[in-house]
Amino acid sequence: MAKPTRICCIGAGYVGGPTMAMIALKCPEIIVTVVDLNESRINAWNSETLPIYEPGLFEVVKACRGKNLFFSTDCRYHVAQADIVFVSVNTPTKMSGVGAGKAADLAYWEGAARMIASVSTSSKIIVEKSTVPVKTAEAIGKVLRRNCPHPDVQFEILSNPEFLAEGTAIQDLTNPDRVLIGGKETESGRAAVAALASVYAHWVPAERILCANLWSAELSKLTANAMLAQRISSVNSISALCEATGADVQQVAHALGTDSRIGPKFLNASVGFGGSCFQKDILNLVYICESVGLKRVADYWHSVIQINDYQKHRFVEMVIGSMFNTVSGKKIAILGFAFKKDTGDTRETPAIDVCHGLIADDARLSIYDPQVQQDQIFRDLSMPKFQWDHPMLPNGAQVPFSSREIDRTVSVSSDPYKACAGSHALCVMTEWDEFKALDFDRIFASMSKPAFVFDGRNILDHERLRSIGFIVYALGKPL
Ligand code: NAD
Ligand code: UGA
Repeated sequence: MAKPTRICCIGAGYVGGPTMAMIALKCPEIIVTVVDLNESRINAWNSETLPIYEPGLFEVVKACRGKNLFFSTDCRYHVAQADIVFVSVNTPTKMSGVGAGKAADLAYWEGAARMIASVSTSSKIIVEKSTVPVKTAEAIGKVLRRNCPHPDVQFEILSNPEFLAEGTAIQDLTNPDRVLIGGKETESGRAAVAALASVYAHWVPAERILCANLWSAELSKLTANAMLAQRISSVNSISALCEATGADVQQVAHALGTDSRIGPKFLNASVGFGGSCFQKDILNLVYICESVGLKRVADYWHSVIQINDYQKHRFVEMVIGSMFNTVSGKKIAILGFAFKKDTGDTRETPAIDVCHGLIADDARLSIYDPQVQQDQIFRDLSMPKFQWDHPMLPNGAQVPFSSREIDRTVSVSSDPYKACAGSHALCVMTEWDEFKALDFDRIFASMSKPAFVFDGRNILDHERLRSIGFIVYALGKPL
């Protein structure tokens, strides 16, 4: 293929929006259009208030929007025009049917593939940007070939998984550790890999553009997320042992991290990992292992999720246990609701499980997060797990608490001091930098006594808090 001049991306979400904005910024001669069925999302991408909060994103979008970066709901037209079509739609955990609760739901992907096939009158490179089960390219290839009415049209499928993390997406896209491109080991497959590599070569050094076969690329993405999550569950499991023995998990993590074979990153003990991907991708891996008869391997990876659930549960028990075994009627301030700092994303945030645990014990919650709005928090607390990715819920999905119950027990504040005033305890759920700079003397003075701090991220200065008078509990730290 000659140098690509038109790129279309299906799916204007956390991945499609930022990745395409970066390609547009770095490749001014390529016209990049991001399409989505969700009209309000596209309107937001075309406005001054983008649909996602991501540091540095607005500047990148502003530099190219209307020049070589466009957002549209006219999916069919822009796909038909493109040389390269990225598919960056959601691939959530299946909610019903075979593999429910584990397998990836490829309905959105298949819908996109059928649409691509039906509108294509020229050959195209189709890029799997979504995280998908290994061998998806084979299935998608069949859908594309058998639904395209033009026999001359060829589709070359590539796997190009995305490794950006939310909150640092622009940094990660500007300077990626690697770009992975998997393709068929045929002449046309190699040409397609070269065409996509030529796009990234505008700013990514050649040695960081890795080529692999399709199945290796697909599996690398699932495995990368599983191994990152496994590190967190490993350190979180050790945090429980630290509490039982008097060791300090931060000292242990530091000692481990200085071993160059282990490395220092991703060893922060926490109330649990969240986000839309770690759990779903591990469940997907577990399902694939089970499907090919590798039960022991499936069990190994499943334990990463079990430890994560254990950690969230342990945190709730720590709060209730230390507050004399009852939080009934007590106000508890929840600082942070997003699944990590520098994002407004609340998908699978551990804060939801912790809030549910405390509400079940009849606590009154007062929640503050700098980037998450009240309506989002109320929706998250009153909807069944995974509904955020499934507008149409199957019958029988469990609602943990009714909206009435949430209205009665939860309030959301736009000021951290108001959230804490009159509370018996504050729980840090997200590692926002601004929490470290709060005036804790003022907060202590406004709280009921004894005043408890439960630091679910180990970000506060515990010695200083104790000197003010707080009773401090932190994960994996001596009392
Ligand atoms: P998202 O839910 O934010 O965005 C997906 C978008 O696709 C939605 O706006 C939806 O309306 C749109 N869509 C679905 N079907 C469509 C169709 N047929 N036609 C047009 N639009 C359609 O999801 P996301 O967080 O951007 O994740 C997308 C994929 O990337 C997932 O597979 C995820 O696992 C993977 N991923 C996510 C991240 C992350 O940080 N969020 C990082 C790496 C990989
Ligand atoms: C993660 C991966 O880091 C990305 O490489 C991947 O592309 C992405 O998933 C995906 O496929 O969606 P993300 O979920 O955005 O990115 O954020 P992370 O920084 O990985 O954090 C995930 C969760 O782990 C957060 O809740 C975070 O607070 C928690 N975490 C992270 C810890 O508890 N401890 C740590 O040491 C690191």
